Amino acid sequence: MELHSGDVAVVTGAASGIGLALAERFARAGMHVVAADVDDAALAAVAPALAAHGVDVLTQTVDVRDAAAVDGLATATLERFGAVHVVCNNAGVSSRADPWAGPLEVWRWVLDVNVLGVVHGVRAFLPHLFAGGRGHIVNTASMAGLAPGVGAPYDASKHAVVALTEDLYLDLQAQLAPVGVSVLCPGWVRTNIVDADRNWPAEHGEVPERSVVTAAIEHHFRRAIAEGMTPAEVADRVAAAIGEDRFWVLPDPEWLEVAADRWDTIRAGANPARPDQIPGLPPTSRLFEDILASLTGPPADPPADPPADPPADPA
Ligand SMILES: NC(=O)c1ccc[n+]([C@@H]2O[C@H](COP(=O)([O-])OP(=O)(O)OC[C@H]3O[C@@H](n4cnc5c(N)ncnc54)[C@H](O)[C@@H]3O)[C@@H](O)[C@H]2O)c1
Repeated sequence: MELHSGDVAVVTGAASGIGLALAERFARAGMHVVAADVDDAALAAVAPALAAHGVDVLTQTVDVRDAAAVDGLATATLERFGAVHVVCNNAGVSSRADPWAGPLEVWRWVLDVNVLGVVHGVRAFLPHLFAGGRGHIVNTASMAGLAPGVGAPYDASKHAVVALTEDLYLDLQAQLAPVGVSVLCPGWVRTNIVDADRNWPAEHGEVPERSVVTAAIEHHFRRAIAEGMTPAEVADRVAAAIGEDRFWVLPDPEWLEVAADRWDTIRAGANPARPDQIPGLPPTSRLFEDILASLTGPPADPPADPPADPPADPA
C-alpha cells in the first residue's frame, strides 16, 4: 500500500525506541499520527517533535493489555480523523527475572503486553481498516520469534506474534481483504528495551529481581543493543515493506542465519544447541564463563592471619 500524505497511522509503544521512530517516519511522510503508550510522561515529551512535522498528532495513554482501552483508542482515532490506514502494534516488554523460579506474574506481564496487546490492536482496528477500503497492519515481533535463546517468556511471546500475524495474513488473503499485513522481526535495535521493567505494573507487586544469569551477562546485552541498528533504520524498513506489501520485515541478515540454522537442526531432528556465536554478543563460551564465574562467586578471601598473641601481662 502506498503511504499518502494525509493518511492516518496508529502506533502503540510510540513514546520510545522503534515505536517513536515509526511515528516520526509516518509524520515525515505527511501522515497524521496517533501515538499511544502506557508511559504518559514520555508520550507528552515526544508529542511536540512529532507535531513539528506539520501533521496532526493525537496522543493517548493506553495500556495495550486492556482490550477496552485499545478499543477506546480506535474510537478516538476515528472521532478525530474519520479514518485509519496504518496500524503498528508495536508496544512490547522483556523481563530480566528468572522465568522458572521467579514470580509467575512475569509470564503474565510479558504475554499480556506482547501477545494480547497485539491481538487487541488487530481486533480493535481491523473493522475500520476494512471500512476504509485500504490499510496495513504491522505487528512487531522479533528475531526471538524465529530463534529462541533470549529468554523464555519473551521468546514464547514473539513466536506467538509471528504465528498469529502469519495466520492473520492468510485469513485476510483468503477473504481478498484490502488490508496488508507485515511482521517486523528485528535483531538488536538501540532502544530502552533492557529497562522495560520501568513499566512493570503496580498490581503485580514489586519489580522482580534480575535472575543470576541476567545479572552475569546483562552488560553484553546492553552493549549489543547500544551497537545495534538505529530505530530510524528499522522504521525505514517498515515503511518500505508497507509500500511493497511485503509480509516479512527482517532487517538483520546475521540473525536470519541463526534462524535458518535452527530450522536445519529441526529438519535433521537434532536436539537444540546454542549457536557458538550469537550476533552482537561475545562467543557463547565466554557468556558461559561469565555465568559460571557469577555462580561460583569471587575467589574466597585468603584466611586471615591468626591474631597476634596478647602481650604478656606485666603483672
Ligand atoms: N530493541 C530491540 O533490540 C528489539 C528487538 C526486537 C524486537 N523489539 C520489539 O520492539 C518493540 C518496541 O520495543 P523497543 O525496543 O522500542 O523498546 P522501548 O522500551 O524503547 O519502547 C517500548 C515502548 O512500549 C511502551 N509500553 C510498554 N508496555 C506498554 C503497555 N502495556 N501498553 C502500551 N505501551 C507500552 C513503553 O512505555 C515504551 O515507550 C517491542 O515489541 C520489542 O519487543 C525490540
